[in-house]
Amino acid sequence: MDERATWATRIGFILAAAGSAVGLGNIWRFPFLTGESGGAAFLVVYLLLVVGVGVPVLLVEFVIGRRSNRNPIGAFERLGHPGWKAAGAVGAIAAFIIFSYYSVVGGWVIQYVVASFTGGYGADAEAFFLSTASGTNAIAYHGLFMTTVAGIVALGIRNGLEKAATVMVPTVVVLLVGLAGYGATLDGAGAAYSYYLAPDLSTIVGDAVSILPAAAGQAFYTLSLGMGIMITYASYIGEDRNLLQDAGVIVVLDTAIALLAGLVVFPFLFTQGIEPGEGGAGSIFISLAGAFQQLPGGEILGGVFFLMLLVAALTSAFSIFEVVVSYVTDTFDVDRVPTAIGMAAVLFVVGIPTAIDLSYLDAYDLFANNILLILSGLLLSIFIGWVYAGEAIEELGKGRTSDGRIEAVWLTTLRYVVPVVLAITLALSVRDYIGFLQESFL
Ligand code: TRP
Repeated sequence: MDERATWATRIGFILAAAGSAVGLGNIWRFPFLTGESGGAAFLVVYLLLVVGVGVPVLLVEFVIGRRSNRNPIGAFERLGHPGWKAAGAVGAIAAFIIFSYYSVVGGWVIQYVVASFTGGYGADAEAFFLSTASGTNAIAYHGLFMTTVAGIVALGIRNGLEKAATVMVPTVVVLLVGLAGYGATLDGAGAAYSYYLAPDLSTIVGDAVSILPAAAGQAFYTLSLGMGIMITYASYIGEDRNLLQDAGVIVVLDTAIALLAGLVVFPFLFTQGIEPGEGGAGSIFISLAGAFQQLPGGEILGGVFFLMLLVAALTSAFSIFEVVVSYVTDTFDVDRVPTAIGMAAVLFVVGIPTAIDLSYLDAYDLFANNILLILSGLLLSIFIGWVYAGEAIEELGKGRTSDGRIEAVWLTTLRYVVPVVLAITLALSVRDYIGFLQESFL
């Protein structure tokens, strides 16, 4: 096992990890949650959680991965604490559910790319979205997205992931900056910026109970935390790397791209007089397609935007495949290619309900993100904070010179801050989820 592949270059690891983090979560999910949850108030809570919970937990996953050199389930055995495999397993289940519907949303994006370049989205953007998002075509494009991902992952870590990420992440950044610049020239930009960027303390306090689960779920989702992805990626990095620095780069990049996506999406919405958050999971598609339709050069702009979104979605999707493929190939004597194909087939089937009915998509999404990821993060932070602290600190110190201060802050945060915040979040999330199920399915 010790001669597992390592990343060819440092930048390859960062770009692949950033490629996992940056995806539909930044561009589709972040703006629609921000819109649904009150704009700037949500943004503030989300940013606090990224820094106070996301960064420490990302370091936890890096430490576990590099220390154990294993997949997220095998890792705990290797570290001498097999009982904690449960934490890896919760994450694996979350990843599984997330990927099954992520591919469905990826399929919507493919349909939007095709529609953009072949003459638009019809007269009614909302009707177009509904016909895109559910039914036979949604299932077919879900299959196409899944097949593409499995094909690329079957090629292997260096060939597939590293090269793809090296091109894709910078492309996404350049295109978003261009679109945000264009958005700034629109009429609605002023109103959009104040909705999105000017928080009001009383809203934050008043809505804390509803904002917290959504913001925490999003922080985990967007950083690809709580599902073993970062454990797996870090299992391929060498001991000469500075984990802290790599984590910093990834978090800053991921957060910057989400913020940028908001700067793109909200001016387009406001210019059209669309209430942010009105259309749930479809809002970004409906509003942007409507906007692109009316704007000069909108066909090309739309095509470019959705193509970029597809690229970002693919790099995120590779990461979860990598986790499963590495688990199966580490544990059993099976090759990458059959593993990738088998995996794609199972995920395809599991995702089908979400391609038929959007309530299922919400049900999958909320359960995996607001409950399972939070639970997994809670377990991971307790494990490192209370069970594996000494070794974890030593691991974090590798590849850098340190006077131990950052380690001390990290440990205190993991022992006292993260578990408390996540336990409260989990309780709120479970309560919300029961309410959601009663409303949508009973
Ligand atoms: N981080 C990715 C994003 O922001 C989403 C993601 C997280 C993901 N976990 C995943 C995608 C698992 C697929 C599978 O879009």
